[in-house]
Amino acid sequence: LAIDPPANEPVYQYRAGSDERKRIKDELQRLKATEVEIPLIIGGKPVKTGNLGRCAVPHDHNQQLGVFHQAGEKEVNMAIEASAAASEQWASMDWQDRLAIFSKAADLIAGPRRMALNAATMLGQGKNVFQAEIDAACEIIDFLRFNTYYATQIYRQQPGSGSAEWNQMEYRPLEGFVFAVTPFNFTAIAGNLPSAPAMMGNTVLWKPASTAVYSAWMLMEIFMEAGLPPGVINFLPGSGSQVGNPIMASPNLAGIHFTGSTAVFQGLWKKAAENLSQYRSYPRIVGETGGKDFVCVHPSADLDAVVAGLVRGAFEYQGQKCSAASRAYIPESLWPGIKEKLLTAMASIKVGPPEDFSNFVNAVIDRSAFDTITAAIDYAKEHDAAEIIAGGGYDDSTGFFIDPTVIVTADPHFKTMEEELFGPVLTIYVYADPDYEAMLDLCDKTSPYGLTGAVFAKERSAIAVARRKLVNAAGNFYINDKPTGSVVGKQPFGGARASGTNDKAGSIMNLYRWVSPRTIKENY
Ligand code: ALA
Repeated sequence: LAIDPPANEPVYQYRAGSDERKRIKDELQRLKATEVEIPLIIGGKPVKTGNLGRCAVPHDHNQQLGVFHQAGEKEVNMAIEASAAASEQWASMDWQDRLAIFSKAADLIAGPRRMALNAATMLGQGKNVFQAEIDAACEIIDFLRFNTYYATQIYRQQPGSGSAEWNQMEYRPLEGFVFAVTPFNFTAIAGNLPSAPAMMGNTVLWKPASTAVYSAWMLMEIFMEAGLPPGVINFLPGSGSQVGNPIMASPNLAGIHFTGSTAVFQGLWKKAAENLSQYRSYPRIVGETGGKDFVCVHPSADLDAVVAGLVRGAFEYQGQKCSAASRAYIPESLWPGIKEKLLTAMASIKVGPPEDFSNFVNAVIDRSAFDTITAAIDYAKEHDAAEIIAGGGYDDSTGFFIDPTVIVTADPHFKTMEEELFGPVLTIYVYADPDYEAMLDLCDKTSPYGLTGAVFAKERSAIAVARRKLVNAAGNFYINDKPTGSVVGKQPFGGARASGTNDKAGSIMNLYRWVSPRTIKENY
């Protein structure tokens, strides 16, 4: 099988008066008018437990999109059995047939299911239409198509054989199941974490974030519609401990594919260590966790580029991207100009529900996020080392709305310069121009994370020194661009340090983690 290298899925613009604008509006209405009841899917069959969670709407406390059944230990054990029952046939299915399912799933999302997946992401996860489109349409389509392509490259890669011997590589799946734990903030990541191991012949137990079950459920339906056999991916919404503990105790656990918080990831890793002697194999642990992503500006930088990078990098999707810019270092000489342009841009940002397409910023995901972020804003209000120059307001009367907020601090170690907030808060530290290199060292040492970061400079030597000094500070390093918005096939995504195992989502490197190859040598 030879397939062409894929092209990235084109982004719909949803312009006023366009057909796609009309279709997404209709779909939003349809989803709001019909409450769904989401079951678990175990062995291809719906399972209801009666232990219900709510599919909430972050911008409207009075609405819900439906309810979902939550798994407990009994259902986890059923799913472990179902995955074991499915694994032999799935692993021995020709890879061409397995990959066809995911290629078809990409087409279903690109065509008939695009609007529904986008609308579910807008309403359930609080994304504006553009943020939903680049995630729940384009990025998941790209993950599925590019991974399909990379998988064909892996399967065809064979060692050399001489005249008297015949060498082969069999790219077997892991022996056991992969536990996929997926986040609320990207529907695409929610789809990629179970599908990438499944493509390579693994069975999967999938626990979606409780704040994003609706769009995850749609993806599960799409995988089944595309032909996924029963038991290959088992869908298990529920609480982290109720679902996670029995999974982590299973001898069949062969891998973890995780995106979420650093604390939860470390907890899973510790559990894996505790249970290590029970597992049949050492589990493959692949995770992407937190970030404290930076923007470093050199005195030679272009002001407009910096301001666009800050506004889009920090405030798109309310700063709830793991890649979001949350701290910036600006030279004294540029600060007045940047400040003026930044304040003008901030004044034009509209905050409100995603159904009004002119709103750039929507609500944050839930009560816990709202409380954490607003506590940090209050902390800045109370401390002399910080000044809030834009935003600072919040209102949870109808939904979890927080104004995009810019804090300027004289203390480079101020709390909001160091701690991950996952919200629409940007903290700026202004440094003396001659201290550019010292500032880069400071930036490197300020945070334990290593996910994304950006440097803005026109002078090549300033770019070169930033590349060198920040070599481990960001797995995705941007030059004269915002630190968000990686594109599958162009900027494989992931970071090291406390940000994860850096196995680069959307790349061949990630897929290699899901195979346990057998090398065969035959003499004749
Ligand atoms: N791919 C996402 C971004 O880069 C995480 O923003």
